[in-house]
Amino acid sequence: MNAAVDSKVFKANRLNAGLDPEHMPEHIAVIMDGNGRWAKQQGFMSRVRGHEVGVEALRRITTASAELGLNYLTVYAFSTENWNRPKAEVDALMNILMTALEKELPTLMGNNVRLCAIGNVETLPSKANKKLMSVIQATAKNDGLTLTLALSYGSQDEMVQAIRKIAQKVAEGTILPADINEAAVEQHLFTAGMPHPDLMIRTSGEQRISNYMLWQLAYAELYFTPVLWPDFDATGLYDAIAAFQKRERRFGQTTEQLTAE
Ligand code: FPP
Repeated sequence: MNAAVDSKVFKANRLNAGLDPEHMPEHIAVIMDGNGRWAKQQGFMSRVRGHEVGVEALRRITTASAELGLNYLTVYAFSTENWNRPKAEVDALMNILMTALEKELPTLMGNNVRLCAIGNVETLPSKANKKLMSVIQATAKNDGLTLTLALSYGSQDEMVQAIRKIAQKVAEGTILPADINEAAVEQHLFTAGMPHPDLMIRTSGEQRISNYMLWQLAYAELYFTPVLWPDFDATGLYDAIAAFQKRERRFGQTTEQLTAE
């Protein structure tokens, strides 16, 4: 499809979803929470079943985001703190990641999705890391939605690493302390070059940010839903975007200033 046809299709899809086609978030960040509770509610012995069904929710939301013509979707798939879960659950999550990467490549290609990752991906088991790199490479030329998996990711750790890199450059004399500004910090984050999320969705009723994109969420609208991640679907995504479209984003300015612009 060419860009003009794409944009007509996106507009129709946005209207069909009951959304204002001209006022879409460019970047949505998601905390996919509630897999364990979902498994328990459904009577499964293992929490892992929730993660497995969570992959299906991720496929639905990725496809729906691509169909709406969103530019960026970033999902919290595995935090630095998640390494502290029981080994059996960590191992299962790594296997789920590998299987999903293998199985979902055709869906990513069919939806023109480019896969990226943020976090300490080198700490993943080497087979998972290799698979991840191969799917990132295979989808690198896709120019529709960018789906970013936050894997072994923690925002405080991301900032510490950025500070360390900047301090190193100061020590080497390639950057002056006076030149350290927001843009310089941005360039040293995992998300360098990516616009900040406009909307952050967290499922499962928890109302926390849990060490997720603390710098990047500075002006994001936050949306919390009680729906557990494995049950989250396109309608839930449209509801979140509709709520976003009703918010007034002032970025520190007054309503009067915004309406005068
Ligand atoms: C939080 O639910 C979810 C996670 C820690 C993992 C998220 C993973 C997926 C949605 C599957 C897709 C995964 C990959 C790696 C592509 P929880 O286990 O904390 O649920 P709970 O709060 O109900 O216990």
